[in-house]
Amino acid sequence: MRILITGAQGQLGNELRRLLTSGQAEIGPIPLAYEGAEVSYANHGSLDITDAAAVSSYVGEGHFDLVVNCAAMTNVDACETNRASAFALNAQAPRNLACAARMAGSKLVQVSTDYVFSGTDSAKRLESDPCNPQSVYGESKLAGEQAVLDECPRSFVVRTAWLYGYKGHNFVKTMLKAGRERGEAKVVDDQCGNPTNANDLAYEILKIAETDNYGIYHCTNDGTVSWYGFTQAIYKDAGIDVDLRPCTTDEFPRPAKRPAFSSLDNAHLRATIGDEMRSWQDALATYIHNLDELGDK
Ligand SMILES: NC(=O)c1ccc[n+]([C@@H]2O[C@H](COP(=O)([O-])OP(=O)(O)OC[C@H]3O[C@@H](n4cnc5c(N)ncnc54)[C@H](OP(=O)(O)O)[C@@H]3O)[C@@H](O)[C@H]2O)c1
Repeated sequence: MRILITGAQGQLGNELRRLLTSGQAEIGPIPLAYEGAEVSYANHGSLDITDAAAVSSYVGEGHFDLVVNCAAMTNVDACETNRASAFALNAQAPRNLACAARMAGSKLVQVSTDYVFSGTDSAKRLESDPCNPQSVYGESKLAGEQAVLDECPRSFVVRTAWLYGYKGHNFVKTMLKAGRERGEAKVVDDQCGNPTNANDLAYEILKIAETDNYGIYHCTNDGTVSWYGFTQAIYKDAGIDVDLRPCTTDEFPRPAKRPAFSSLDNAHLRATIGDEMRSWQDALATYIHNLDELGDK
């Protein structure tokens, strides 16, 4: 099997590399179909996915069976103030990959987000629920989903949320640093979602991509919590004593609006290959336990 991972130096890209190299995720062995796979790990420098001609020749010449797009503009506030860049990377670039994948006959996985939903009421979202993004990031990611589904018949859109991986930047690392350096923190308690370990997501992506069940999937760790509740667990698991206080979104104004409740239901996973995603508490505990060994040095 020949595989292309784009955005390979990001959080998810690094976990896919870890799984494809070792054959093992934290929640189980990856499918045997990936044994001996030849994998091209393309980073921003070796393949800029906003360059349609470069994507077309890279994918065309690579004879890939599978392309997994892990590249995105993930800084939600930066997207809000730079709409053109957000749409170039989160919408047009997936279209470039989808067109190239269709021409080459490759399968394509496009990773997306809970921010495609408005999150204004407290119901878990199904894959079939209507989208109504409230931010430029969400709008651009939704446009990317649609481009991929329109252009590539063998595509999977995998929506996840609140992602943290061993390599790169994320909320868990930010809060650990803040807690250790300042001994106090204030975190919003009125936005709820599903924290998700990138190692678990990478595992499910490889399982989904083995199938021909194309379409949209939700894939998050199990359970819903606020950022404040998540931070309480981070400090507890890390054994750090921090003066942690809840606050409201209004006390913490940001350029981009966030969904108040964006919990996803992994319904399509359950109905197809089965939902093996563990609880967010278990996934976080393993992550904190392994972070010193596996994180950035
Ligand atoms: N992070 C989250 O909380 C979260 C939540 C929900 C969904 N998601 C989705 O999950 C996916 C993976 O997210 P992540 O957190 O792993 O992302 P990440 O760590 O921010 O990595 C994104 C990668 O994309 C690369 N990139 C940027 N511009 C590029 C370009 N023009 N061509 C090729 N590569 C480019 C970046 O490289 P450089 O740094 O070198 O530019 C970076 O390595 C994304 O689709 C994201 O939207 C993430």
